[in-house]
Amino acid sequence: MKALVLAGGTGSRLRPFTHTRAKQLLPLANRPVIHYALRAIADAGIDEVGMVVGSHADDLRRSVGDGSAFGLGVTHLRQAKPLGLAHAVLIARDFLADDDFLLYLGDTYLPDGVTSFVRRADQGADAARLLLTPVADPTAFGVAELDAGGRVRGLEEKPDRPRSDLALIGVYAFTPVVHEAVRAIRPSGRGELEITHAVQWMIDQGLTVRGETTTRPWRDTGSVEDLLEANRHVLDRMEGSVEGKVDPRSVLVGRVRIEEGAVVRGSRIVGPVVVGAGAVISNASVGPYTAVGEDCRIEDSAIAFSVLLRGACVEGAARIEGSLIGREAVVTAAPRLPGAHRLVIGDHSKVQLTS
Ligand code: TTP
Repeated sequence: MKALVLAGGTGSRLRPFTHTRAKQLLPLANRPVIHYALRAIADAGIDEVGMVVGSHADDLRRSVGDGSAFGLGVTHLRQAKPLGLAHAVLIARDFLADDDFLLYLGDTYLPDGVTSFVRRADQGADAARLLLTPVADPTAFGVAELDAGGRVRGLEEKPDRPRSDLALIGVYAFTPVVHEAVRAIRPSGRGELEITHAVQWMIDQGLTVRGETTTRPWRDTGSVEDLLEANRHVLDRMEGSVEGKVDPRSVLVGRVRIEEGAVVRGSRIVGPVVVGAGAVISNASVGPYTAVGEDCRIEDSAIAFSVLLRGACVEGAARIEGSLIGREAVVTAAPRLPGAHRLVIGDHSKVQLTS
């Protein structure tokens, strides 16, 4: 079995970060989201991966390379426009040849991996297998309706009145018949070739599509809230270790990872927290559930439940929570007068002020 990892897309929900970076390279505990996917694929015994990339192709190439760091062979496949998940399968036709494959959305985080799903797909004789999970609000998802034997009866995309609470969570196993399906379907109302339509086409042809329901943890990382939540989840499973320098005036509580070359002075860090190499934290309170990227600087500030990307700087901020701060972004205290907020914010940024 091969794998097809989707790392293109528009990423509109993660603007402004996706103006300059692929969302699949945003970090969870300081490691790009897509690295977790590639590890899970390697752990499942797959070694040939096609990675569909869009406008941030160069960044992804730098981060993933030929895949050898993960024990994989990764072929980068350029999708000229984000025309849908089924379109990504369409352009990967030559790479996939006539092999079965695992389709894995590159912004999906599955801490327990996909090994058992891949094994069951390999052993089964079904045309496709979908990984599903019960969700509280199915109206935001692709939703599957199953019969008593676990066969998928039908799929709906973001239904107003869902027929089940089983959402598709970004992992699918396909046999080569899917290539016929993605050629047969037409673009949806939003102009994309939908993978749900391709699967529905297979069901309509009388082919067996099986749903596998899981209640194991799973996170989409496609929005800021989801990314912060996935980051919290990864930090919860992290081991603490101190490889950088922590001065005697500082206090570390709980599981804290201070990477080599990081410096902590006169600060209180409450885990789980990771502090990346080269970061400097002084006279600050950090955590819980915070990932500080490489070369960040936090001074005279308090920050919790947040993610700081490489080189971000926070200085004189009384309390920051639930925030995602971009690469080399600078947050400082305003001068006392004229008592106004002063903002220099890029396109599509979101700022919440308390007064
Ligand atoms: P989505 O999150 O559904 O779409 P998106 O990336 O365009 O994001 P947004 O809705 O915020 O605008 O995509 C799921 C995954 O599939 C994600 O990793 C991006 C990838 N993808 C492609 O590779 N090609 C595509 O044409 C599309 C639509 C998505």
